[in-house]
Amino acid sequence: MNIAIVGATGNVGRKILEVLEKKELSIDNLYLLASSKSVGKKISFKNKDYTISNLESFDFSKVKIAFFSAGGKISEKFADKAAKSCLVIDNSSYYRMDPDVPLIVPQVNSDALNNIKKNIIANPNCSTAQLVIALKPLHDLFTIKRIVVSTYQSVSGGGKAPMDELIDQTKLVLNNKKVESKNFTKQIAFNVIPHIDVFSENGYTKEELKMTNETKKILDEKISLTATCVRIPVLISHCESVNIEFEKPFSLEEVKKVLDNFEGCKVIDERIDGGYSTPLEAEGRDETFISRIREDKTLKNGLNLWIVSDNLLRGAALNAVEIAEVLIKNNFYGK
Ligand SMILES: NC(=O)c1ccc[n+]([C@@H]2O[C@H](COP(=O)([O-])OP(=O)(O)OC[C@H]3O[C@@H](n4cnc5c(N)ncnc54)[C@H](OP(=O)(O)O)[C@@H]3O)[C@@H](O)[C@H]2O)c1
Repeated sequence: MNIAIVGATGNVGRKILEVLEKKELSIDNLYLLASSKSVGKKISFKNKDYTISNLESFDFSKVKIAFFSAGGKISEKFADKAAKSCLVIDNSSYYRMDPDVPLIVPQVNSDALNNIKKNIIANPNCSTAQLVIALKPLHDLFTIKRIVVSTYQSVSGGGKAPMDELIDQTKLVLNNKKVESKNFTKQIAFNVIPHIDVFSENGYTKEELKMTNETKKILDEKISLTATCVRIPVLISHCESVNIEFEKPFSLEEVKKVLDNFEGCKVIDERIDGGYSTPLEAEGRDETFISRIREDKTLKNGLNLWIVSDNLLRGAALNAVEIAEVLIKNNFYGK
């Protein structure tokens, strides 16, 4: 099996390599691609150094699977071409709502992989991926009508440059120096910004609309979802406060049991000091953690949850590699 990673020097690309190192996939040849500024740099994988090559001149017929994680513009320009000769697993938002492209969280809707038309499979937005993996077992049992979600998203969700900026700003603030914001609309250090991605005409941001549209596509078109997406000064892991209205009644015991038994989820919910998950504990972990499980007595069949997950893993690299694993297991790659 030959594999290419487009955007191998970025946050998600490097995480894909970390995930691949831990998995059993046997890789014959690995091609690491990035922009011209990174060509010639070396990245180590399984104790061997790999040299970064230029995406522009790469021949995708050399590989079976190409992971794309270099942003929507790069996917728009190169993924279709690549998909003529290999299978593309795309981390950007470019193909997610394309009706001919399956949008996949393997534990939730891997059956949609039966419908690959373009040789491209999309990975959802990081906030959506961790949300739907927790919603799926609950929707199967109690049928979700409506969701109100507020996110608390780490800066790594924007790439490696915003992570560096948070660290630099924090040092500047602590040294009483002037702070400039390049990757954020306002100072992020010691602050919270209720704005991720661009505004649309209705006042929602694109990140908020992605959560609505992608949840419908992955889980159920009938679900109503309204979101507020917020950037917080945390390096890795996104948190979500989620209010759910179900069609059917539930008990908290059933909810906890079904969530804890669902592959990829883990319940950490003790009603004591520290009996819940936070971003630091979720960092580097494959599971999506669910805490603060409570009935919402202001609604019929209402539930509140706190969901935390490593956005670079479930929200990107781990999910993408798990998609590849399903495809390989079903011998389902290449036209
Ligand atoms: N971060 C998350 O939580 C997350 C979650 C889900 C999806 N995603 C998506 O994954 C993608 C990558 O995100 P990221 O966080 O890894 O960003 P990042 O850290 O900024 O990395 C971007 C990568 O793209 C490469 N790149 C940029 N311009 C290029 C060009 N012209 N040709 C070839 N490669 C180019 C960069 O290479 P150089 O180093 O050479 O510039 C780098 O490897 C984005 O589409 C993002 O929306 C991210």
